[in-house]
Amino acid sequence: MDERKTKNFVKETYSAIAQTESSCGCSCCGDTVDFLAIGKKIGYSENDLKNLPEAANMGLGCGNPVALASLKEGETVLDLGSGAGIDVFLAAKKVGSTGKAIGVDMTQAMVDRAKANAVDYGYKNVEFRLGEIEKMPVDDDSVDAIISNCVINLSTNKDQVFKEAYRVLKNGGRLMVSDLVTEGELPDEVRQSLDAWACCIGGALEKQKYLESIRKAGFKDVKIASEAIYDFDVAKELDGKIKSIHVEAYKK
Ligand SMILES: C[S@@+](CC[C@H](N)C(=O)[O-])C[C@H]1O[C@@H](n2cnc3c(N)ncnc32)[C@H](O)[C@@H]1O
Repeated sequence: MDERKTKNFVKETYSAIAQTESSCGCSCCGDTVDFLAIGKKIGYSENDLKNLPEAANMGLGCGNPVALASLKEGETVLDLGSGAGIDVFLAAKKVGSTGKAIGVDMTQAMVDRAKANAVDYGYKNVEFRLGEIEKMPVDDDSVDAIISNCVINLSTNKDQVFKEAYRVLKNGGRLMVSDLVTEGELPDEVRQSLDAWACCIGGALEKQKYLESIRKAGFKDVKIASEAIYDFDVAKELDGKIKSIHVEAYKK
């Protein structure tokens, strides 16, 4: 895989998705796109989904990292690959007016969409920054919690993402991410396919390698809080080898 080509392809894919009204991401492909149903299947409550900017839920996640993160009033939370902002808006409610939720995304059209959502719905404690999660536009030791939803699998340098996550977290901070990993080998043609990579499958790491990459960055108490077979069309042909996981890890 050519890193630059892959990253550009991912950026172009999500730029196109951000600019369509009825988006079709990786968890949904079909003529009818029911975002509420997809959101519930991924792990959000109906209440969560109904109290969000409507355009923030694009059916692009594979879990609900905010539910796992035990966010408290006053905390600063960072969302890696924030898309149209769904998890940033949910996190913003939890951290309240004394806290802050920051989203980072490398796709300008996604950042624009998230910013427009924030303005339309009057969110004051959110910020969306354009940038790559391999080189986060975030200060050292400045964040209490990091969340991410179906994004790190898209990175061409996962070790670097976890190193950066460690750098920006405060001591005692936590990493709580939802992502896709594999159990068993994927066919070569899937690994080589840019479409499969952009759909969060081709770049998914084998589960133990994913955890190892987090540990290598310095995190402690790395564990899988929950896992399930990723039961969406893009993974159907792959015999249950694609798993959706929630991972927690700490900077101590
Ligand atoms: C599958 S979507 C998930 C969006 C969002 N987390 C959600 O659940 O709706 C992936 C997002 O990650 C962004 N992304 C992918 N690779 C990235 C990278 N290396 N750095 C920053 N953003 C990235 C894409 O632009 C896209 O908005």
